Amino acid sequence: MLRDSFGRVATDLRVSLTDKCNLRCTYCMPPEGLDWLPNAQLLTADEIVRLVAIGVERLGVTEVRYTGGEPLLRRELVDIVARTAALRPRPQVSLTTNGIGLARLAGPLAEAGLDRVNVSLDTLDREVFKRLAHRDRFTDVIEGLAAAHEAGLRPVKINTVLMRDVNDHEAVPLLRFCLDRGYELRIIEQMPLDAQHGWSRENMVTADEILERLSGSFDLSPDDLEERGSAPAERFLVDGGPARVGVIGSVTRPFCGACDRVRLTADGQVRNCLFATEESDLKTPMRAGATDEELAARWTAAVARKRAGHGIDDPSFLQPSRPMSAIGG
Ligand code: GTP
Ligand code: 5AD
Ligand code: SF4
Repeated sequence: MLRDSFGRVATDLRVSLTDKCNLRCTYCMPPEGLDWLPNAQLLTADEIVRLVAIGVERLGVTEVRYTGGEPLLRRELVDIVARTAALRPRPQVSLTTNGIGLARLAGPLAEAGLDRVNVSLDTLDREVFKRLAHRDRFTDVIEGLAAAHEAGLRPVKINTVLMRDVNDHEAVPLLRFCLDRGYELRIIEQMPLDAQHGWSRENMVTADEILERLSGSFDLSPDDLEERGSAPAERFLVDGGPARVGVIGSVTRPFCGACDRVRLTADGQVRNCLFATEESDLKTPMRAGATDEELAARWTAAVARKRAGHGIDDPSFLQPSRPMSAIGG
């Protein structure tokens, strides 16, 4: 079991498959991109599946989420998903993606055993999309979403990071869009994770503001039908339900006390938190011939060192040296 010194147990494993991305969202990376990890440093598909299997079979991991960068860029994704879904006890298998390529891959992924998908979508306006993501790929995302729904992936969740004077007027239209199509919208406070270090607290649209905006057009009531558990999103019933909307207030309403996550970076480092200051290397010992038992022991020791929370409010807070795209969302 992956237990930390505060008694939290990590059962939700988030695996970054690549640090590369085909968009350049301003809250994540600069328009020119970043220095990508050299291929030799990326875990191979076999190495990924081996570590995931250790997590599931020996360490109590029950949910595996593939992220990036953009995980659909990883050619072996369908195979990795199939091999993950074949593990016993079978974990839940999910994906966080920008949606580009999902139009083609949603069907094969669902067949391979993918259970559900979270897709980033910050705007319904093609021009705003271009400005925000520095690529003209809005239509690909919309088609990807439709394909995911069509393929039976449930729920299809939408992640929207609201930014002042960029897309903060779109909270209500985005919720209407999601209600019409059966997607579940989650609106997210921007976190200090961009490679350019451009985040500022003043510019962040807070959870309170998000709720205020939505409440102008919808009746929101706390969702007491389903336990929140360790979910980052605080969910609300929209106009009495059953549709829901989520607000992810990582900064002003942190949920670290209930955190059940552990991350594996694309280059094989265990990372306890998005904002962790240290990582523990599994790749080097694995490539040097470590047994599953030895890797499991290293992993357990790494999680034991997890800190209480992200510390964004501490005066000594420093943004992580690795950007979000390298850590895995
Ligand atoms: P579900 O299991 O569907 O609830 O997924 P999720 O919301 O945990 O994952 P997703 O990848 O869709 O991320 C949604 C938002 O939550 C993104 O902004 C993530 O960066 C943020 N997020 C994910 N995990 C964590 C976390 O451990 N801590 C914090 N603070 N934010 C997180
Ligand atoms: N703050 C909050 N959320 C972010 N994401 C990416 N960068 C940030 C940030 N700085 C979200 C994206 C994506 C998920 C993996 O993380 O919307 O859906
Ligand atoms: Fe967990 Fe860190 Fe996220 Fe807090 S910020 S919920 S401790 S991963």
